[in-house]
Amino acid sequence: MGKDVIVACDFSSAAEVYAFLDKFTGRKPFVKIGMELYYAEGPAIVKGIKDRGHPIFLDLKLHDIPNTVKKAMNVLSRLDVDICNLHAGGTVRMMQAAIEGLTREDGSRPLLIAVTQLTSTDQESMEQDLLIKQPIDQVVMHYAANAKKAGLDGVVCSPLEAQKVHDTCGKEFLTVTPGVRFADGDVGDQKRVMTPAQAKEIGSDYIVVGRPITAAADPVAAYERCVAEFCD
Ligand code: C5P
Repeated sequence: MGKDVIVACDFSSAAEVYAFLDKFTGRKPFVKIGMELYYAEGPAIVKGIKDRGHPIFLDLKLHDIPNTVKKAMNVLSRLDVDICNLHAGGTVRMMQAAIEGLTREDGSRPLLIAVTQLTSTDQESMEQDLLIKQPIDQVVMHYAANAKKAGLDGVVCSPLEAQKVHDTCGKEFLTVTPGVRFADGDVGDQKRVMTPAQAKEIGSDYIVVGRPITAAADPVAAYERCVAEFCD
């Protein structure tokens, strides 16, 4: 795996997501299932999309005491997804417990990546709400290094941080980057964006693209454009 476009299927029902995926008659895009869809439809939506042949990134961002995360990851590993994630803020011990829980009896497991600081958190809210005084880019790199230390496979990060994450944690450590927009597209509520071609240039391993594909007049063409810019 690697160098792929992950489509953020931010829909609120199975009917909507299946109607969207029905448009893809050839290629089977990598699908990100987030909290909204998972909480609405439960594990059946994961199985349903998997059975249609799509690789899946289950984006549930776990964050709890190590024992609870270990047990929850054990349940998620049975869903046979390709990537799942957690918050690095839960500590190295929590991340190690997550790996233990995720690892199946035969030693296999889905890829596990960490959210460092959410892109919705800025320097001011980090200092005032979380009492973290260091510069946010240092905090992000420290959390990425913690994720690596715990044995995780990579991080979700802004495309602008991907290069530095690779410099800090190594080229093999995966960077999964949302905040992608076409050069001629709407930015929407994303603040710091890159085109798929720029994300490729700076070394993102996967890009996560939602509305530029899901809200496009022709979603399949928009997806193919992302693939052409990012993967080819
Ligand atoms: O529609 P859009 O391309 O902005 O969707 C981006 C997806 O990536 C959404 O599912 C959003 O929740 C997710 N995401 C993000 N920024 C992060 C982490 C996740 O936009 N830092």
